[in-house]
Amino acid sequence: MRNRFRVVVVTGVPGVGKTTVLSFFSKMAEERGMKVLTVNFGDFMVESAVKEGIVKSRDELRKLPLRKQLELQRLAAEKIVERAEEVLDERGVLVVDTHALVKTPAGYWPGLPEHVLRKLRPDAIVVVESEPEIVAERQAKDKGRQRADIGGVEGVRMLMEIARAAAIASAVWYASTVAMIYNKEGDPSQAAIEILKIVEAL
Ligand code: AP5
Repeated sequence: MRNRFRVVVVTGVPGVGKTTVLSFFSKMAEERGMKVLTVNFGDFMVESAVKEGIVKSRDELRKLPLRKQLELQRLAAEKIVERAEEVLDERGVLVVDTHALVKTPAGYWPGLPEHVLRKLRPDAIVVVESEPEIVAERQAKDKGRQRADIGGVEGVRMLMEIARAAAIASAVWYASTVAMIYNKEGDPSQAAIEILKIVEAL
């Protein structure tokens, strides 16, 4: 049911601040002497897709034909666990920055279906949340990214609602816990502390 190392999967709608919170988390974990490997699932997908010449940026991934996304998703899960196996022993923690749900032109699509979970075997799934209005503002300020397809405040609200349900559905496969964590405007360190508490409790 578990990998040798502990696994925490961190999800949340695009722009809620997962990557920002996790950069605080990694620093805090390091200060406490924890051996943590933090990876971004999208980085692994985009690396393969760029090599194939089918995307130029990460925001194009969710618009690829769904069967292509599925193949990239499978490969990413495999490579992440391979990398973690190389560097983490039983005291190590793998933290995966990803999505419980991806909005695609073909419909909402699970980021953590069974074939991904079979590789990751998460101890915990974290859902990072903020008010939809604030998430939409963060998306707008983050100029380097194209997230218009998420659909503004209402799109974020809908995605957040279904993503919670998706996280819980994913948790059932490998008996993972699910925790909703609030990313407070102006203070991502609070959410990082909450993730730290979860890791310490595993
Ligand atoms: P992904 O790799 O997850 O995109 P990302 O760049 O990591 O992050 P997001 O767009 O989700 O934003 P974020 O929540 O990390 O916010 P950030 O910290 O940047 O996904 C890329 C693609 O990969 C997906 O679209 C999908 O196609 C694919 N993919 C990934 N996982 C998949 C899976 N499992 N299956 C299939 N496909 C998958 O912050 C945003 C802004 O907010 C920043 O400007 C930041 O400074 C600001 N901010 C953050 N926190 C705060 C705060 N507390 N106060 C004020 N401002 C804040």
